Amino acid sequence: MAQPSFLHKPTTSIFTSTPSPFCFLLFLLTLCTLGIYTLHHRHLQPTTPPSKTALHFHRTFLSLATNATLSAYLRHLTLHPHLAGTPPSLQTAQYVHSHFSNLGLPTHVNDYSALLSYPSHSSLTVHFANGTAHSLPLGEPGLKRNDGVVPPYHAYSPSGSAAGYAVFVNYGREEDYAALEAQGVSVEKAVVVARRGEMSRFAVVEKAAEKGAAAVVMYTEAAVRGGVERGTVMGGLGDPVTPGWAGVEGGERLGLDDSDVSRRFPKIPSMPVSVATAEVILRSLEGTRVPLEWRGSLKSTVGSGVGPGPTLLNFTYQGEKKIASIRNVFAVIRGSEEPDRFVLLGNHRDAWTYGAVDPNSGTAALLDIARRYALLMRLGWKPRRTIILCSWDAEEFGMIGSTEWVEQNLVNLGSKAVAYLNVDCAVQGSGFYATATPQLDNLLLEVTKKVRDPESEGMKVFNKWKTTDKGMNILRFSGADSDFAPFLYHAGVPSSDLYYGRDFPVYHTSFDSYDWMINYGDPLFQRHVAIAGVWGLLALHLADDPVLPLNYLSYAAQLQEYTIVLSNLLAGSISLHPITASIQEFVVAAKEAEEDAKKLREQETLGSISDLKKRMLNDRLMFAERGFLDAEGLQGRGWFKHLVYGPPSDPDGKLFFFPGIADAVSRSRRMNRTEGDVAIQHEIWRVARAIQRAGYALKGGLT
Ligand SMILES: *[C@@H]1O[C@H](CO)[C@@H](O)[C@H](O)[C@H]1NC(C)=O
Ligand SMILES: *[C@@H]1O[C@H](CO)[C@@H](O)[C@H](O)[C@H]1NC(C)=O
Ligand SMILES: *[C@@H]1O[C@H](CO)[C@@H](O)[C@H](O)[C@H]1NC(C)=O
Ligand SMILES: *[C@@H]1O[C@H](CO)[C@@H](O)[C@H](O)[C@H]1NC(C)=O
Repeated sequence: MAQPSFLHKPTTSIFTSTPSPFCFLLFLLTLCTLGIYTLHHRHLQPTTPPSKTALHFHRTFLSLATNATLSAYLRHLTLHPHLAGTPPSLQTAQYVHSHFSNLGLPTHVNDYSALLSYPSHSSLTVHFANGTAHSLPLGEPGLKRNDGVVPPYHAYSPSGSAAGYAVFVNYGREEDYAALEAQGVSVEKAVVVARRGEMSRFAVVEKAAEKGAAAVVMYTEAAVRGGVERGTVMGGLGDPVTPGWAGVEGGERLGLDDSDVSRRFPKIPSMPVSVATAEVILRSLEGTRVPLEWRGSLKSTVGSGVGPGPTLLNFTYQGEKKIASIRNVFAVIRGSEEPDRFVLLGNHRDAWTYGAVDPNSGTAALLDIARRYALLMRLGWKPRRTIILCSWDAEEFGMIGSTEWVEQNLVNLGSKAVAYLNVDCAVQGSGFYATATPQLDNLLLEVTKKVRDPESEGMKVFNKWKTTDKGMNILRFSGADSDFAPFLYHAGVPSSDLYYGRDFPVYHTSFDSYDWMINYGDPLFQRHVAIAGVWGLLALHLADDPVLPLNYLSYAAQLQEYTIVLSNLLAGSISLHPITASIQEFVVAAKEAEEDAKKLREQETLGSISDLKKRMLNDRLMFAERGFLDAEGLQGRGWFKHLVYGPPSDPDGKLFFFPGIADAVSRSRRMNRTEGDVAIQHEIWRVARAIQRAGYALKGGLT
């Protein structure tokens, strides 16, 4: 399919759902609100210049905020656990789909068959030195057999058993093993206990396997009492048996023993446990003393030593990997003037348990944005560009729904996607956080100046954000932990990610429920309102502004900062000159683009300016990010094409940008000086060329 077919044909609902009484209630609520606003806005003149009308609609969008709808959506979404690939998960897809279509929005669903993973049995027995033994609790308090919550497990862990001495390995980083080795402690054939925090689960298990461990037990110190953090231990993104292409029904699938597939799974089994269970083991360990540096940050109680032993662990995990059906759901608001330019808002829907924070606080916001956009449409609003609301499936297993879709639609996204705006765990607690690619910085600041702060009366999100400790710090992407990853790292689409609060204690536990949200996360649903406001307004500007609100001067400034950090890290014969020179060119291009944008915006307010002229500049602004992509991608993991942003492959690395250079720096530690410098220098040249390409795209002319 060359074009997403849903852009051409009207709704073809594959559901014949009967609206529930609940939906009917929402429908009534929608009608009532619509009634009120139709009265208020009857004076609207269809002849108003488009930009003024758009601004008017943007203000109306903010005025349509209601916390009651948000709480009702969240309540409905979190009634049952909805793990990807299970029937209750399909029901949430149907709920989102009927919400969109009840609002009169054109909808579209898209199914994939993906390799998922579920637990069948696990046990962990502890054998103390004094001869007593007992099996440790692996579940969570209050969970019943029939409530549908999946027992704690690590998706894609191989099945297996191991019996060995327990060893505490702290976060399981290279430096942690080095500290153990320095004391003569080996983890060979041991069952290691690691606390979560510094590396991905996959990296922790891979490192343990590399060091000779037989199995890994993981616990999360910050977890709520009794909570156990589920999670995937798969490396990479997307369906492991369809690497780089979409897992469509009847399409090509690699075998599980294919090396491209098997390298994405850890080689030894692992399981998550509660803090209490981990402490039973840790308190009984003797041997080498727990290093002081570890103790400094430890919150859990440990024994006198790190082991090995004298405690023995008998570990068993049995699970199955199987092909399951997953479903992405879309609502499409066709652009009136530039239907072939896409502004995407995305959030995943699948959850480990009830998913009140992760991810359905974001889903509730997405549904409320749909409600408000539908109202605007009834008032006569039509976006200039196409807006696509995306509800992803199977994110928890490794961004599968979004990755398969990006892989399937790569050419159309590459040539037509203006921006991808992600929201995952929208409301985790207090404080506004935003991650973005730098050309979105200005827009983000402007938008937060218009949205009411949920925590301080009379303030805007912007003012509160500015006064918090770090002061309006827009974060940059370096992880691959949500659905922005395929859009940014694989397709080069400018991206953002928004949330309130961080590090919530019920993360991936059965306590991530509606009750937690109304008791702790957001009792009045005002943070939900704020996120929906910022998210929806960002999209409105990207969809409606005649000249795209993308500013590359902040990208240039950010790149300059990166070279300073890099030059402090590197020494010797390595030259950063290729990068600094290409940034100079990029700065010139960014200035030119900004001046051109300013001129067009001025002319736009005076009246007619040809659409073609706007399109020419907008294309430069849209394509510049694509310039950072490299056809070959990062060495050894070519799926990652972006050379400025991407997760470094070495979790112990010190660079959180230029992932190719970060990888080379890590690799160079295993080479002699000359060889290492050559490897790093090559990656510096590649980044320099990527920045040059982005600059050429921004200039818009040929060399
Ligand atoms: C055996 O050792 C464990 C762990 O140190 C301790 O909790 C338990 O009370 C001991 N049992 C007996 C019978 O001494
Ligand atoms: C470990 O437990 C299994 C049953 O779960 C048992 O068959 C096996 O003998 C035990 N191994 C050791 C070394 O205790
Ligand atoms: C919505 O916000 C108002 C004002 O803060 C509050 O009184 C009300 O309880 C909230 N509603 C819900 C459902 O949280
Ligand atoms: C560095 O390693 C390369 C390849 O292993 C070797 O050819 C070269 O002679 C080494 N150089 C030095 C200075 O040791």
